[in-house]
Amino acid sequence: MIRLMQASDLAAVSQIENLVQTHPWTKNQFEESINSHVSTVIEQDHQVLGFCILQPVVDEANLLLMAIHPSQQGKGLGYQLLDESIALLKNNPVQIFLEVRESNKAAIALYEKSEFHQIDLRKNYYPKPEGGREHAIIMVKTCGDDFSKLFK
Ligand SMILES: CC(C)(COP(=O)(O)OP(=O)(O)OC[C@H]1O[C@@H](n2cnc3c(N)ncnc32)[C@H](O)[C@@H]1OP(=O)(O)O)[C@@H](O)C(=O)NCCC(=O)NCCS
Repeated sequence: MIRLMQASDLAAVSQIENLVQTHPWTKNQFEESINSHVSTVIEQDHQVLGFCILQPVVDEANLLLMAIHPSQQGKGLGYQLLDESIALLKNNPVQIFLEVRESNKAAIALYEKSEFHQIDLRKNYYPKPEGGREHAIIMVKTCGDDFSKLFK
């Protein structure tokens, strides 16, 4: 089930984030995102298995962060979570933007499957855990030509 994130999810969300990110968001950042963004979780058997944070801005949106617990990756949950979280955006965005580390092949493949494509490259944008920096790939998904939106 995919639903809006609640304060009671913060411990589980933060735990997943700490498992998957070298520069994790803090619990406070997640707490703020419950109020200021469209923050969702995917849960099964009352266990939070992943989360997604989307930031609506006028008639667009930014995908700020998403993750699936490492033990649950590769089962289609990330794709389902992203797709259903986008559908929850009330501003009906024309375009959705994101940036992703060039080395994050799993995320890039997920985004491509979700119909995002690269529009730019920010050179040496992210610090690498082992030192040095890596490029950020900027991707966009155009939603405006989605015919089904006419009937929303
Ligand atoms: C990126 C992430 C959210 C994907 O979630 P997931 O549940 O594992 O992805 P799914 O099982 O839904 O896979 C969807 C598609 O993504 C691609 N994909 C997923 N994992 C992949 C991998 N390890 N290698 C290559 N492609 C992969 C595939 O195209 C897949 O579609 P397919 O199964 O039809 O081939 C997950 O790997 C994750 O949490 N990573 C750590 C955090 C992160 O990098 N977040 C994104 C940047 S903020």
